[in-house]
Amino acid sequence: MMRRSSVCLMFLILATVAGCKHSAATSPALKARAAGTAIAASSGGQQIGETGTALKDPLVVQVNDDHGTAVQGALVEFRGPAGVHFDPAAVLTDSSGQATTTIRLGTIAGRYQISAVTPGKSQSATIQAVETALGYQQELGYLLAEKYCDRCHDPESSVERVSNYDNLEVKPHPFTEGDTLNKMSDADLVAIIQHGGPALNRSALMPPYGNTLSAADVRALIASIRAVADPPYQPAGTVYARK
Ligand code: HEC
Repeated sequence: MMRRSSVCLMFLILATVAGCKHSAATSPALKARAAGTAIAASSGGQQIGETGTALKDPLVVQVNDDHGTAVQGALVEFRGPAGVHFDPAAVLTDSSGQATTTIRLGTIAGRYQISAVTPGKSQSATIQAVETALGYQQELGYLLAEKYCDRCHDPESSVERVSNYDNLEVKPHPFTEGDTLNKMSDADLVAIIQHGGPALNRSALMPPYGNTLSAADVRALIASIRAVADPPYQPAGTVYARK
């Protein structure tokens, strides 16, 4: 008897905690202390991460008033498609007018459109950002690109890697440059990655990877190149012969 009632009590406590959590998530107890008229992205838009994981950098947005002055205490709400999680989902801007959240992408690979909304005095202002979630094969390709390709293909140097881009006489394209890479067929990508630039009458500064990377690695690289392309890659549909 004794045992049974304590189990009940525990259940009650758990239910209360869960209930509180739920209502906190749906109706944030945040009250705006000020209102801005404009919202702008500061950093953290256009990141690429793995499905179901938190993006490396937080998303930071800035709320200003009519005069372009930072507004402290304005409410900012972050919204995204189902499966995206924000921590926090609503926040007040700090003394520099900034609101910061960490984003965990959903488990489906693809582009996630995120918005940050701030209610103004008469109408609310919205800013949008797109974050990309990579599936398993795409993520594998992304890591291979970091290891083998980015030192030439990414003009930006990072702490871990100094870019070789400026030393190259012929400039390669970052893999996000959809305008160039979307025009290349999968077959062309396989050819240039396995056999190097000369396979497509391009510069030999693009080395051959046929002996370094397996066919599956090359497919993963191509999957990642297609996933990060901006503008997005549109696979060719069915092409019918003209009558
Ligand atoms: C040593 C520098 C270097 C490395 C490392 C390198 N590339 Fe390249 N890549 C180039 C250069 C230079 C070009 C441009 C060739 C041209 O346009 O004549 C190029 C071109 C390409 C192209 C054609 C599109 C473009 O950017 O013009 C693809 C696709 C490509 N590389 C894929 C890769 C992949 C995948 C890897 C890693 C497995 C890789 N590259 C590693 C130098 C490099």
